[in-house]
Amino acid sequence: MASKQMANVKGAQKINQKVISKRKDSARSVNTKNQETENSDESVDTNSDNLNTGISEENSKKVADALNQVLADEFVLYTKTLNFHWNIEGRDFHALHLFLDDQYNQLQLIIDSVAERVRKVGHFATGSMKEFLDSASLDEHSGAASVSENMIAELASDHDALIRKTRTLIDDFDEKYDDAGSADFITGIMKEHEKMAWMLRASVPQQMGK
Ligand SMILES: [Fe+2]
Repeated sequence: MASKQMANVKGAQKINQKVISKRKDSARSVNTKNQETENSDESVDTNSDNLNTGISEENSKKVADALNQVLADEFVLYTKTLNFHWNIEGRDFHALHLFLDDQYNQLQLIIDSVAERVRKVGHFATGSMKEFLDSASLDEHSGAASVSENMIAELASDHDALIRKTRTLIDDFDEKYDDAGSADFITGIMKEHEKMAWMLRASVPQQMGK
């Protein structure tokens, strides 16, 4: 290779090395920034909004954690209700299809109010399917469609589970964590589930021990 060509090749190699090393530097800086962001996200989450409302930071965190667990279960039940609205079959298909339409719309309002309650006590609401599934205590319904009575019974049973859970939270929020507002709020959520469970049971009484 002629010496001029060799010089050009060496020059090009040097430029390439510079570009590669610059890329590595910028990747490193992005990683550091991501790390900082992750760390700052953690600190924001655990430090909350530092509200000065007469509830200790520790107590408001416990209330928020419990509300986020309720939120996860609400989301699972919402998805299941939608699933059954779509896939339900049987003699009463049309009536149950419309009935479940009402029910999932009610659950959507509950989900929104629970998430916003988490924000009101100074924390962040869970907002990803993975986190919902990780912390939910209710099981999803996957696989083939079942007969309508079984679907309705499964929904009623999930509402009962949420009623039991929210009932225990009323005292926890009020007495353990000094948060009367959240106790009142979760009482309202429990009553919503009581009403929805009654309507589910009333729609197929012969299958549900009546
Ligand atoms: Fe629909």
